[in-house]
Amino acid sequence: MALFKRKQDPTPSALPEDIVLPQHVGIIMDGNGRWAKKRGLPRKAGHREGAQTFRKITRYASQRGIRYLTVYAFSTENWKRPEDEVGALMGLFKSYLEEALTDFKDDDIVVRFIGDKSGFSPELQALMTENEESSAARGGMVLNIAMNYGSRDEMVRAVKNICADVQSGRLDKEQIDERTVSDYLYTAGQPDPDLIIRPSGEYRISNFMLWQSAYTEFVIMNKLWPDFQKEDFDEALRIYSQRNRRYGGV
Ligand code: FPP
Repeated sequence: MALFKRKQDPTPSALPEDIVLPQHVGIIMDGNGRWAKKRGLPRKAGHREGAQTFRKITRYASQRGIRYLTVYAFSTENWKRPEDEVGALMGLFKSYLEEALTDFKDDDIVVRFIGDKSGFSPELQALMTENEESSAARGGMVLNIAMNYGSRDEMVRAVKNICADVQSGRLDKEQIDERTVSDYLYTAGQPDPDLIIRPSGEYRISNFMLWQSAYTEFVIMNKLWPDFQKEDFDEALRIYSQRNRRYGGV
């Protein structure tokens, strides 16, 4: 039995032909707990539903021509949640990562993980590596799954690695610039996110891609993640397309 049933979703209408698409989209998948609470269900039921939305929107983003998608699945701070919720999320990640080995293949999606893998069980770490290796040669959208990810933690690691490379003579301190810092982050070699979508109506960045989002456009949507539809993704693309990005200029 497939673990994740695909939701039936109406096919969204076409986007305007002259739409300016973001190259890299980030999503803070928020609101699973509230979705479950509203229905009198345990929080883990919200995460299960959120996982279905994640699969649907990932495929859709790839079909829409997005080149990089980064989803925030588990933060360095999420370990503070009740043990049964963390356990349920780990179970969900394991099931998903097993399925993902074949899943997303048709869409040619490259799967990558950003975050500190060492926090997970050896079994989960092995599945993460297997997913990365088996999808690395694909040519489609790059999907970054942020797990045990925190942007401050990412920056601390980058600083330590930069110091180590300066000490060993691999890096000249005088040559360090903004590009160097980007190159020491998990997202090295990838463009910064153009658009970050946060469903569930919260106006917070929650330790997500702080360095990378210096000039990112934010779209906050008033929907809980499990209720998020393809139309909502398109709506975010439309809003993004109308923004005037000035990067500090006029
Ligand atoms: C935030 O909602 C969501 C999470 C901490 C977990 C996100 C995980 C998934 C969507 C699972 C799917 C991911 C993969 C890779 C299979 P919240 O619980 O903070 O919601 P609340 O603010 O309403 O409490």
